[in-house]
Amino acid sequence: MTAEPDPSLPTLQDVVKNLHDMPALPTVVARLTRLIADPRTTASDINTALSSDPGLVTKILKQVNSAFYGFSRRITTITNAVVILGFNQVRNLALSAFVFDAFGRDRGSPFDVNGFWRHSIGTAFFASHLAKELDARLEEDAFICGLLHDLGKFIMAQSAPAHAAAVIEKVKERDILFQQAERLTLGYNHATLGAYAMERWNLPESLCQVVLWHHNPLKAPESVQTLACIANAADIVARAMLFGNGGDERIPPLADGVWARLGTDMTRLEGIMRKVAGEYSKSDAFFAS
Ligand SMILES: [Fe+2]
Ligand SMILES: [Fe+2]
Repeated sequence: MTAEPDPSLPTLQDVVKNLHDMPALPTVVARLTRLIADPRTTASDINTALSSDPGLVTKILKQVNSAFYGFSRRITTITNAVVILGFNQVRNLALSAFVFDAFGRDRGSPFDVNGFWRHSIGTAFFASHLAKELDARLEEDAFICGLLHDLGKFIMAQSAPAHAAAVIEKVKERDILFQQAERLTLGYNHATLGAYAMERWNLPESLCQVVLWHHNPLKAPESVQTLACIANAADIVARAMLFGNGGDERIPPLADGVWARLGTDMTRLEGIMRKVAGEYSKSDAFFAS
């Protein structure tokens, strides 16, 4: 097995040259992210920002009123949704709806796109619960990092389907991890591609770094290392809990250093897994258009 990819293989530069067809982050989602960072923002500001995209409002309200949240009365306005769920949750719903629309539908992709999407949502749920236990301030960022950690795989499937097909073939041929097959097949990997796309969407640099290092979290810059370890652990646990499909049939072990960084133990982890399993079983709203 060669450790280095063949220099004649396609590189990240080859792929990003063709990324002009990559979906743009809707202005409204980008605006929500900026508004949420501003402590002066009110529920009605969020409502005004979202009102430019009625389709997105409908999708958010549909999710808010789904069995996932289980509210006894109907929530009919974004202002109410913000009051009940909070700014961050509403932004997360908007981001999930966009990512699902842009990448979650199977358009003849070489990947099991639906399986990927389920893997991403499962990872986001676990990441946010784990973060809540460790440092509640990281909870919302952990959700986004979980949701987007494998964004590069979706983009590869859409913008470089021949590369995606070659990686999948290598995975099947050797029964190895997706990222190992990338190393053998391409001159780049999905983590680099995903981080690159997030930068183009002007998402915060810290989140781009987490996605870049999610398979190698102990090499992430110190300021985002805990979040990178959370994303890494959540990816592995989502695989172990059979949430969707991460692109291969393997479950890598959690590195000792990651365990140490998270400072958690198996008993706490099992408690979180139980909560996440319940949440995942009610999460059909995240899988519908
Ligand atoms: Fe990944
Ligand atoms: Fe993953």
